[in-house]
Amino acid sequence: MQQGKCLHQLHRLNNDAMKIIAGYSSINLTHAVCNSLNLEPIIPIYKRFFDGEISVTLAEPMRDEACLLIHSLSEPVNDNIITLLLTINTLKRSGADKIVVCIPYLAYTRQEHTVSLVISLMHAAGAHHCITIAPHSHIENAVIPINVLSTTQLFANHIKASHKLNNLIIVSPDQGGIERCRQVHSALGLASELIVIDKIRTNGACVAQTIHGDVRGKRCLIIDDIIDTGTTLCSAAEALIEHGATEVFAYCTHGLLSGEALTLLQQSPIKKLVITDTIAPKEDTLNAPKIEMISVAGSIAKNNSF
Ligand code: R5P
Repeated sequence: MQQGKCLHQLHRLNNDAMKIIAGYSSINLTHAVCNSLNLEPIIPIYKRFFDGEISVTLAEPMRDEACLLIHSLSEPVNDNIITLLLTINTLKRSGADKIVVCIPYLAYTRQEHTVSLVISLMHAAGAHHCITIAPHSHIENAVIPINVLSTTQLFANHIKASHKLNNLIIVSPDQGGIERCRQVHSALGLASELIVIDKIRTNGACVAQTIHGDVRGKRCLIIDDIIDTGTTLCSAAEALIEHGATEVFAYCTHGLLSGEALTLLQQSPIKKLVITDTIAPKEDTLNAPKIEMISVAGSIAKNNSF
């Protein structure tokens, strides 16, 4: 495989250069990536035995092929990890020459050390390279190269197209998110100060405590990487309105939306939540009036990290 070319260039140079494989959890996203490259995805045959064991087979051999497997680690996370490992190993056993795994949402990045284990398992299964999008924390000591794609520009473009920038401020809902917010703030070229909220988590739910900065009369745009229970975003939005913000919008890369998150969002002052398709949306997410989904397919198709 030629190095340093984006998938699109590879495709134009040699139609047989890359096979794109749809991971079980990312079938639609894989189709979207393939559409933008004018390629046909390969869909493995996924089956389940009565006891829960998973079987992954391919209809055609991958002998000497370079393969890109797109497979998110969304809910059910642990089941999806096993399916991912089995799919990588099926590609290896079928003769693939190079296996690049794109994990749009990489689970286990919220606990220290656990992500290295997940990546080591991918390597043991046969993966040579991993691409992921906006992981929650920096990945250290990985046994294979990891390339990180960001959603900063995707969000900045969407914000420019949907909002007037005057009177708009960017808000980080916690201290850990400041850098990610700073990047969007700088991509938008905003002169306003960046607002940061202190939050505490008790019994799994987050509560906004202190807002650092003046939000009176401002339209606030909260940026976060993950919405899980929804308590971080919703309590931040409530605090902002209580402190005089006029409107609150939110952008979040990974829409886990666990438990009562959608109900909470619906009842919150957030006017619109923009999420990406790193996680395949459930029916109720697609139908949620406050949610808009934008796609990372173009970023995956354009990446030139291997
Ligand atoms: C935390 O550090 C993350 O950046 C997110 O703010 C957090 O995972 C969101 O979780 P939840 O939706 O459960 O509040």
